Amino acid sequence: MDYSIESITLDKLQSDCLLVGIYEKQQLSYAASLVDGLCDGLISKLIARGDINGKNAETLLINNLPITNINRIVLVGFGERGKLTRKQFRKAMTAVAKALKDCKAKNAACALLDVEVAKADAQWMTRQIVEVVNDGLYQYSTTKQCDDKVPLQTLTVIANEANHKLAQAGLAQGIAIAQGMALTKQLADLPGNICTPTYLAEQALVLAGQHENLSCEILEEHDMEGLGMGAFLSVTRGSRQPAKLICLHYQSSDAHVKPIVLVGKGLTFDAGGISLKPGQGMDEMKYDMCGGASVLGILRAASMMNLKLNIVGLIPASENLPDGNANKPGDIVTSMAGKTIEILNTDAEGRLILCDTLTYAKKFDPEIVVDMATLTGACIVALGRVPSGLFGNDDKLCEELLEASETACDMVWRMPIWEDYQEQLKSNFADLANIGGPDGGSITAAVFLSKFTEDYRWAHIDIAGTAWRTGANKGATGRPVALLSQYLINRAAS
Ligand code: BES
Ligand code: MN
Ligand code: ZN
Repeated sequence: MDYSIESITLDKLQSDCLLVGIYEKQQLSYAASLVDGLCDGLISKLIARGDINGKNAETLLINNLPITNINRIVLVGFGERGKLTRKQFRKAMTAVAKALKDCKAKNAACALLDVEVAKADAQWMTRQIVEVVNDGLYQYSTTKQCDDKVPLQTLTVIANEANHKLAQAGLAQGIAIAQGMALTKQLADLPGNICTPTYLAEQALVLAGQHENLSCEILEEHDMEGLGMGAFLSVTRGSRQPAKLICLHYQSSDAHVKPIVLVGKGLTFDAGGISLKPGQGMDEMKYDMCGGASVLGILRAASMMNLKLNIVGLIPASENLPDGNANKPGDIVTSMAGKTIEILNTDAEGRLILCDTLTYAKKFDPEIVVDMATLTGACIVALGRVPSGLFGNDDKLCEELLEASETACDMVWRMPIWEDYQEQLKSNFADLANIGGPDGGSITAAVFLSKFTEDYRWAHIDIAGTAWRTGANKGATGRPVALLSQYLINRAAS
């Protein structure tokens, strides 16, 4: 898909499909009333007939127009005038994506920047138009023949003199974030037999090859042995695929500027190991690498925006399978930090690969570290599938992430990591147990990680409920790429 900005009047526009807004109680937006005039009041006639009311995310396709320069119009509802929130605008854009798919237009023009959205300007709106439409048009096609390919090739956002600059800035951000999310989703939707740790490492090298400021280095199992990553290596022992620690370096600021380190869980398939998971829904554990895929997506977005920052991306990639050589409940391993860990449940493997990676992160003298991981089913029990869980040892960092999540509409909700929970991780035989019992599972997982992040400002984002959709519409969401991209944009600006 191609996205662009154009300043053009509607009478001169040539388009296969024009998007204009309508508010509740059938009030036309400015652009809608203009085009109504060009079409001899056709829109007014249709709404008088009651074809559309203007409720948020309603759409109406009008495809027999008395003018020749525009082939179709899609009226888009935005609810009560003056009351439109950012989330509602995004919901309407989801409906727009569906309407664009269904109407088979080859190109479209979007005259929606005249719609008023609370706490949003033309930059935010343009960015969201690109992000949400691109997300809605995404089609997985690597291993499935796609017989109804969406014909849409280009989307032009129509701006005026006053908002052109903002729209242009929003477009550049929107394209970068949309491309980042697309990469994350593509990798995440791949099956575990294709997307192995080796494949993830290859894709990281490909990404680094595409961007001048980005480089990539892969640590092999023997490198990890040298570093003493006993926790990470114990997880991969049950797998025939070699584990990889993918290290990406994005340098676009002065060399002495401390990097932001992003860590993403890259478990390419999680069967649970000897503590085998139940069969129901186990296929979805191919998504256990979504944190890692998000780090790749975020670095793609940051590179495309050329953000003046230094960023390190670390992705521990491994499988977790049952095998004669696999971890067993009761096994004790020694982490890179020197702490011993009693593995009471081999299915709590994410924290084992992450703790060594978080220890390794110290080497980069980080400004801050943020990890993202499909870490616990308990996080879905606690928060559902709406926000990701946010944990951290630094209030300012957590505040900044919360603020970025509001702007990006990629929600997080803060959870505690009070020391009161440490009790649950006590072991009679090791410094730490790898599980904390049935209560507060997403918190004890985060508390476990916090024992390895005491030397820097750190946040952990549990994306177990948000990285993919389950059910008939199963597929990766690309979260939290938009959130972290926004955070990085904010940091680069400060
Ligand atoms: N990858 C899973 C977490 C998960 C489960 C994410 C379901 C999304 C949906 C993780 O490795 C895991 O298995 N966690 C266990 C921890 C438990 C053994 C303490 C879990 O959540 O059941
Ligand atoms: Mn697991
Ligand atoms: Zn897992």
